[in-house]
Amino acid sequence: MGVSPMHLFVNDSMEFRMDVYRSILITGGGGMLAHALVDALTAKGLAATAVRRAECDIADPEDVTRLFEKYNPSLLFNCAAHTGVDLCEDEPDKANAINGEGPGNLARLAQEHGTKLVHFSTDFVFDGQSDRPYKPNDQTHPISVYGETKLRGEKRIQQVDSPDWLIVRTAWLFGRYGNCFPQTMVKMGQAGRPLRVVSDQFGSPTSTVDLSEATLELVDRSAGGLFHITNSGITSWYEFAQTTLREFGVEADLAPLTTTEWVKLRPKQAKRPLYSVLDGEKYTAITGKTLRHWTEALSDYRTHS
Ligand SMILES: NC(=O)c1ccc[n+]([C@@H]2O[C@H](COP(=O)([O-])OP(=O)(O)OC[C@H]3O[C@@H](n4cnc5c(N)ncnc54)[C@H](OP(=O)(O)O)[C@@H]3O)[C@@H](O)[C@H]2O)c1
Repeated sequence: MGVSPMHLFVNDSMEFRMDVYRSILITGGGGMLAHALVDALTAKGLAATAVRRAECDIADPEDVTRLFEKYNPSLLFNCAAHTGVDLCEDEPDKANAINGEGPGNLARLAQEHGTKLVHFSTDFVFDGQSDRPYKPNDQTHPISVYGETKLRGEKRIQQVDSPDWLIVRTAWLFGRYGNCFPQTMVKMGQAGRPLRVVSDQFGSPTSTVDLSEATLELVDRSAGGLFHITNSGITSWYEFAQTTLREFGVEADLAPLTTTEWVKLRPKQAKRPLYSVLDGEKYTAITGKTLRHWTEALSDYRTHS
């Protein structure tokens, strides 16, 4: 699969350089972020092959070896993950194989093939006890199987002796491909179902479109290491639901709930951080940019969904 030779511009002053990558691959190709990344690359005149789980299970080292032999990618975005946060509590081994060991499988082959590896991680690597936004090098302390296994995945990449990796932690994703929180709120609200949403957990909703663009900005600048990228603004799940319903013009029976009340209703659910706002200063320092407010991104999501 080739890459368009055309030169594009990301802003008025800088030539878009990512076309140096001759072969771009995306694992977890059936997912929400993978679709948005394909769109973002296509918009820049770059072709990417999105590979679904049926072709490559990242937890299977032989699958991963075959993938690299077939495509020999120069740039790989790993969007594959076991993202069912509550399901991970019931399936810790599976979660570990995919989220924990899968990225290591990719990183080893990426090192052998000289591939730049871009991987996505989560705010759930933190425990939520901070009183300020988390910086990339802040102490991690996951409180769920999902968070724990995603952190292991980060470490597996970092353990491979290759400088050419980029890990982007993000949070509260929404986008037009796949199930996401706004879509669920709208569907349930339209169906007349009562919505009881936690009002004391805080974070930054993030558009997969904006995250894709921002990640490509980093790749284009040959950035490596650990970054935090989210849309701007801080909100609770309750306010996120309220804003979504207003944006979509849906009248719904919506009421706030505390985490304590929620846990009583769903005792088996995974624990979530109370405050998982990510500090994007490192991204801004490299690119000179800050992502727009999440409410603006939500308006665009409504327009395009
Ligand atoms: N969604 C969020 O709110 C959020 C927040 C923070 C970080 N992230 C991170 O962002 C990344 C993308 O998330 P997303 O929301 O786009 O997730 P998603 O829509 O659930 O997509 C994940 C994809 O991974 C695939 N997959 C699962 N196990 C696999 C395996 N063993 N091998 C290959 N592919 C596999 C899934 O395939 P199937 O459909 O066949 O299962 C699915 O297509 C993930 O790393 C996630 O941890 C997400």
